[in-house]
Amino acid sequence: MGDITFSIIKPDAYEAGHTGAILSIIEKNGFKWIAGRLTRLTAEEAGSFYSIHEQRPFYQDLCDYMSSGPILVFLLRKENAVNSFRNLIGATDPKQADEGTIRRRFASSVEANAIHGSDSDENARIESAFFFSQREIVEKI
Ligand code: CMP
Repeated sequence: MGDITFSIIKPDAYEAGHTGAILSIIEKNGFKWIAGRLTRLTAEEAGSFYSIHEQRPFYQDLCDYMSSGPILVFLLRKENAVNSFRNLIGATDPKQADEGTIRRRFASSVEANAIHGSDSDENARIESAFFFSQREIVEKI
């Protein structure tokens, strides 16, 4: 497995002021930031980022929601980053997420679920390339 994953602090968590608390949990769990930016997506950009979900019934709502406010996009490094980070954030639906996970603690619904984590090394690469150029990524820590 690769050692990089891509994450987003979503509009609900940013708006609620949970960004610092979430980043603190991530750092305490041994992840190192190697790139990051506060940004805001247009509905078109959200549509493009989530094009894999185009046929799903929640696609339009998801694009509206993800373009509704600022988001923090960032890249993290840790051994076995993708799986380790998905364990830390918990299931997509916060009601199904384990006690102590980030989504269980901070998410409000299956859509507004506070945080994103890549589901594979391949998607970590694709998602990272959507937001970051190579020169924005710190290679040596
Ligand atoms: P994430 O896994 O980060 O990326 C896809 C997003 O689609 C997911 O988080 C949720 O925000 C959203 N999503 C997934 N399943 C549903 C659903 N059943 N209803 C509404 N939104 C969903």
